[in-house]
Amino acid sequence: MAIHSAAIRWHGDLLELLDQRRLPAETVWLPVHGSDDAAAAIRDMVVRGAPAIGITAAYGLALEARRQPSPTLDNLRPAIDTLAASRPTAVNLFWALERMQQTAGQQQGDALIDALTRDAEAIHREDLAANQRMGAFGAALLPENGAVYTHCNTGALATGGHGTALGIIRTAWSQGRIQGVFAGETRPWLQGSRLTSWELLNDNIPVTLVADSTAGHLMQQGKVQAVVVGADRITANGDTANKIGTYNLAVLAHHHGIPFIVAAPVSTLDPALPDGSHIVIEERDGAEVRSIQGKTVAPAHCPVYNPAFDVTPASLISAIVTERGVIERPDRSKLLAHIHGPADGVHW
Ligand code: MRU
Repeated sequence: MAIHSAAIRWHGDLLELLDQRRLPAETVWLPVHGSDDAAAAIRDMVVRGAPAIGITAAYGLALEARRQPSPTLDNLRPAIDTLAASRPTAVNLFWALERMQQTAGQQQGDALIDALTRDAEAIHREDLAANQRMGAFGAALLPENGAVYTHCNTGALATGGHGTALGIIRTAWSQGRIQGVFAGETRPWLQGSRLTSWELLNDNIPVTLVADSTAGHLMQQGKVQAVVVGADRITANGDTANKIGTYNLAVLAHHHGIPFIVAAPVSTLDPALPDGSHIVIEERDGAEVRSIQGKTVAPAHCPVYNPAFDVTPASLISAIVTERGVIERPDRSKLLAHIHGPADGVHW
């Protein structure tokens, strides 16, 4: 069955990804034929954002099964390993691969191909539904008539549709609850300036783009009433890995008494890790900092430290919003109750 979202087009037997490296200047769709293509697209940032990475890995595995003369889970192990090695921090990648392996079980041949394909499609569809629920839960938390600050891109491009943090913003705007959005540009990849501002402008949601270093000044001036961000991995105690710079914003929000809200589907929760010190933080090439869109902005051999993510301790988080509801002031017992308890949206 064909499923098309903002950055992921599934045609039933072929995957196309919108090359997010080239937005907003160009709209280019790249074909993905199997696990090697999917892993390369994830590693090279053609597709990015935790849920979109998981969806891509799932389709990559389903496509790989089609390429094999006699597909079995055992024969797919190298493909699973290749996909798992593409990026380390977003747990959705590993969650999707684990779910696909459970689905595969002992099946083989056409039955296996069919089961993997149906499950990848379900992962894609379920993510959109999760984001829509998160949007409703999260919008209710935002102060009325305020402005929201967001970081990186957590929108339709980063997910199966609607978005996590940006989904909350979309829903809140549609309800007339917020006045507008400040988007941090998010160096070094500029997901904020290239992607978030583009998504919000396309939806006619008032957005003001700022350099990342402007956040403290804005809060000091009373121009931001809430910070809403996404997540790449949330550990059992609520510690949250997200795009580098998120921790800075949490400290600033705490200092200024502004709610700091994290939005992520349950597939981003990693209760197997006790706290954020166990999260593997991806380090990327220094060239990403020494240049901007191919233009050199630093001495050629200047040493660079380029972690792609940081960890915000749970103590700085006002609420985590998932499709199951809201965890206010997250801690270990609330997070585990949220995962294992009824999905009724109550505040835990
Ligand atoms: O390096 P990226 O662009 O994949 O990082 C993305 C983020 O940090 C997002 O905030 C996170 O994945 C949530 S996307 C809904």
